[in-house]
Amino acid sequence: MDDGPHEWRSDLRHEFALWRAGIDRRTISIAQRLGLPRDPEWRRLLEVTDGHAMADRLRRVSILRRVERLDKERISGALAECGVARGGVAALLGARAAAGPMRRDVWLFDSFVGLPEPTFRDGAPAVRLAHNRGDGRLEPIGECVGTLEDVRHFLFDECRLSQDRIHLVEGWFQNTLPSYSGGPIALVHIDGDWYESVRVCLESLWPRVVPGGYVVIDDYGHWEGARRATREFLAKQAGGILLHRRGYTQAYFRKPHR
Ligand SMILES: C[S@@+](CC[C@H](N)C(=O)[O-])C[C@H]1O[C@@H](n2cnc3c(N)ncnc32)[C@H](O)[C@@H]1O
Repeated sequence: MDDGPHEWRSDLRHEFALWRAGIDRRTISIAQRLGLPRDPEWRRLLEVTDGHAMADRLRRVSILRRVERLDKERISGALAECGVARGGVAALLGARAAAGPMRRDVWLFDSFVGLPEPTFRDGAPAVRLAHNRGDGRLEPIGECVGTLEDVRHFLFDECRLSQDRIHLVEGWFQNTLPSYSGGPIALVHIDGDWYESVRVCLESLWPRVVPGGYVVIDDYGHWEGARRATREFLAKQAGGILLHRRGYTQAYFRKPHR
């Protein structure tokens, strides 16, 4: 792997984040108990999505802050999520898009049958989670399942989001993302856990991300394969791209204006 300038910075950040991990867990639970942040609309969104989101409040607030920044900078484009599970973050994106000053579509990609098999690049804990299946076959392993029906019910019935601008795309990323036909993307939340899942998201959607747009990787600190796919991808980008960390696992970067 190439050691570009962003690499040593992200390595240092990574080491620092790991060192801080013990503190972070306490910070997360204190933040959750206090119901941060203070903005009542954000607090409402966090509460509504608590039971459906796998990403904790710290990570969801970080995503909201990225969208807020895009709005402030008047950067147009859709919001997307690759890896929806039961729709917690998806609802947050849908609600924020509807309430924000910019007209944004929301694209949601998932197999809606859960995770596929990992590969050796994802490490032993991933293969164990997959009941010792590690050949990378696009077959469900029975983990992180959110069905299309349940997600629809949560988004459109429980959260009462409008269906007009929310697009649910069912299928393996490997089959759906290369033919993505929506508009430019201002933010994509990549939460597909495995090396191959994260790799295909980055390779397929990066050309559609607008300058100044964000890519948020949920599993950078948690899953070895997600971190590896992200580092390999960044190492190929000319000029270097700075990776930011939030908490023990989330990472994000912006597409440079050049
Ligand atoms: C950790 S869950 C997502 C959690 C969700 N973002 C949240 O915070 O509530 C991972 C999701 O990625 C999906 N996924 C992973 N790899 C995939 C692939 N190659 N194609 C389609 N879906 C995939 C799984 O179906 C699962 O729903």
